[in-house]
Amino acid sequence: MLTIAKIATAAALLSPLAYASPTKRQLPADPEGVKTIKSPNGVEIRYKEPGKAGVCETTPGVDSYSGYVSLNETTNIARENPDTAPLTLWLNGGPGSDSLIGLFQELGPCSVTEDLKSKLNPYAWNEVSNMLFLSQPVGVGFSYGKTQEGYQNEYSGRVVDHPINGTTAPTEGRFSYVNPDRFDTTDISAVGTWEILQAFLTNLPKLDVQPLDRVNELISSGDLPGIPLQMDTLGIINGVIDSLIQTPYYPEFARFNTYGIKAINQTIYDFMKTAYYIPGRLPVCETATTICRGFVEEPYYTYGGRGVYDIRHPYNDPTPPDYMLDYLNQAEIQNALGVNINYTSFSSPFVGRGFQKTGDFVYRRFIHDLERILNNGVRVALIYGDADYICNWFGGEPLSLALKYENSKEFQQAGYEPFMVDGTQYGEVREYGKFSFLRIYEAGHEVPYYQPEASLEAFRRVLGNLILSDGSEAITPDYETEGTAETTHTEAFVPLPSSSSSAAASASAPVSSAAVF
Ligand SMILES: *[C@@H]1O[C@H](CO)[C@@H](O)[C@H](O)[C@H]1NC(C)=O
Ligand SMILES: *[C@@H]1O[C@H](CO)[C@@H](O)[C@H](O)[C@H]1NC(C)=O
Ligand SMILES: *[C@@H]1O[C@H](CO)[C@@H](O)[C@H](O)[C@H]1NC(C)=O
Ligand SMILES: *[C@@H]1O[C@H](CO)[C@@H](O)[C@H](O)[C@H]1NC(C)=O
Repeated sequence: MLTIAKIATAAALLSPLAYASPTKRQLPADPEGVKTIKSPNGVEIRYKEPGKAGVCETTPGVDSYSGYVSLNETTNIARENPDTAPLTLWLNGGPGSDSLIGLFQELGPCSVTEDLKSKLNPYAWNEVSNMLFLSQPVGVGFSYGKTQEGYQNEYSGRVVDHPINGTTAPTEGRFSYVNPDRFDTTDISAVGTWEILQAFLTNLPKLDVQPLDRVNELISSGDLPGIPLQMDTLGIINGVIDSLIQTPYYPEFARFNTYGIKAINQTIYDFMKTAYYIPGRLPVCETATTICRGFVEEPYYTYGGRGVYDIRHPYNDPTPPDYMLDYLNQAEIQNALGVNINYTSFSSPFVGRGFQKTGDFVYRRFIHDLERILNNGVRVALIYGDADYICNWFGGEPLSLALKYENSKEFQQAGYEPFMVDGTQYGEVREYGKFSFLRIYEAGHEVPYYQPEASLEAFRRVLGNLILSDGSEAITPDYETEGTAETTHTEAFVPLPSSSSSAAASASAPVSSAAVF
């Protein structure tokens, strides 16, 4: 049984190898009072309870945990069995973007203010679900395999022994080391995430989280060495799921978005469109990604001067503010979280490049995975903030309509209905049975940051098996929204600010966000 008072948040970080190193200079000290638990299968969890030290989740009676899960690479992946668990795994995208972005900037129990204090978030998603924010793959955020001490070049991510004038952060630190030659794919990353969930759920009772009924039954019957996991619901917020389908919409969104913004002129528009259809054989993976992104996506930045994650904003977008970077580099916060490394970037450049090298972004057709998930009866909610450029809804909507699964015809024929929360219309939704496409107005990439109330309500309805439009009734297998075939709502033009007084660019924020409920 879940009660709000017992709903917990946990941030898990990965560390396949733990290296103890002595405290010196400005290096973070080893945290005190770290608790360790070991699973029967040899996976180790080291954790602390930051809320008890007044960090982030300070609501009385609400538990929060942060810590490391050490992967054992020989651990087998457990079998799949039907089970449902009211636990939400939140993963930011990138690849390489840390899920603590989601925690501190989007939907976690707290955000960080300018004076580097944490402030409770009244629209936190742990109002309705246990939340697990996982920093993955290894190398992202506080997650590490090996660590390095020195000065980090803020652009290249490399750590050097001495500060380099101009480009290097003035203070030294201990950083997660990522092999710059690594190769990575979504499939490899998914295996790691699976392992973490196994370890985490095996240890949940020990972590004193209110038990998940069915999981507990299985544990106590002693029948299972692992935990049968089943995805009950999948939410994807501003995701690029299939580059082949979605990439052509960059020029369309840059010129024909619903804010009346012509970020590029006809010449650049024609160039971007032509670049997508460059004839001939596609070159090797890395080059294909470079062409897709360089010529089709990026001219908008060069010529439009508008935000990567919000077309209403300048390229150096002040939203969301990045106070969490400095917040997480304070010795007492590091100790409360149980970490001894510095946090310097939202997104690991080496991790991102590892995916780029394999062409994961352009070659893998994730649309087919989504079709399989839909045919397995999982509730799938696609949510798009309609001001985001990098993963824009112009591409997301055709993706939703291109999916081939048992109810695709019915979904395609469903019309758009207003998405209402407390008498206010926040967007429009097309929904048939368990599948929905929700466009949220006036929201950039990190939708819960821009529309916190609407996002929490969408999350609550999706988790609670309610219809998305107004949450007034339970979803049925043949429920369908009624209305127009297209969502045509427009907003007033937003001019760029005349001075460029905006704060640091969030150019390393996530490329897509995904949550598995
Ligand atoms: C690393 O953390 C320590 C606090 O433990 C801090 O003094 C130092 O400035 C941080 N270094 C960087 C590069 O953020
Ligand atoms: C990993 O787990 C296996 C199986 O439980 C165990 O035999 C092995 O010793 C473990 N390896 C490490 C490095 O912990
Ligand atoms: C960095 O700047 C300082 C002072 O301006 C100068 O003395 C030093 O030689 C510079 N170091 C490098 C590597 O350029
Ligand atoms: C379109 O924009 C580009 C880049 O700013 C510029 O070079 C070109 O002259 C423009 N074309 C027209 C027709 O305005």
